[in-house]
Amino acid sequence: MKFFIDTANIAEIREGCNMGMVDGVTTNPSLISKEGRKFEDLVKEICDIVDGPVSAEVIRTDTDGMIQEARDLAGLHENIVVKIPMTIDGMKAVRNLTEEGIKTNVTLVFSPLQALMAAKAGATYVSPFVGRLDDISHEGMLLVEQIVEIYSNYAFDTEVIVASVRNPLHILESALMGADIATIPFNVLTKLASHPLTDKGLKAFLDDWKKTQS
Ligand code: E4P
Repeated sequence: MKFFIDTANIAEIREGCNMGMVDGVTTNPSLISKEGRKFEDLVKEICDIVDGPVSAEVIRTDTDGMIQEARDLAGLHENIVVKIPMTIDGMKAVRNLTEEGIKTNVTLVFSPLQALMAAKAGATYVSPFVGRLDDISHEGMLLVEQIVEIYSNYAFDTEVIVASVRNPLHILESALMGADIATIPFNVLTKLASHPLTDKGLKAFLDDWKKTQS
């Protein structure tokens, strides 16, 4: 299972890489705006740090505009994956970009049929947003389960990125379901490593060790 980090913050990305837990990065316009830096400069810096796919999202919503923006983004660095919203115009753009060899990540996916369309359009990745579904009392992980099953039924190459992750259980369930990738906010990534019994056990070992030194 691949772990992507869901942030545009350079310090978080560097720390995640030092932990050996970053196979790629996803950004979106909201994450980029938090950093207060020029979009292209920030994305290029991320690509220089991470040896893996880096998703950067288009802003235009019409097919031609998305295609033009995608070409510009893809020209910034070979690691760039262009994030395209799940709309009819978006699917037309994905079809064209796939034919041009530009990698895409279809974002804002909330239903299995949207994911099926994204795969049929040739998307490299699809991003179901589980946390936002949970927020409105829908079962986010059920969506992932259905997408994984549909893609397996028809042997689609499109990889599933579990997105809008809020807690470690989302990662556990993604792994059990066989999702290809989870894109994880930094605060959730650190939670994956922690367990109160680990802390308690380590403290007991160190306290006992001190006794041998006196
Ligand atoms: C995914 O690629 C998105 O950047 C992200 O996971 C959205 O998460 P949010 O619902 O916490 O904003």
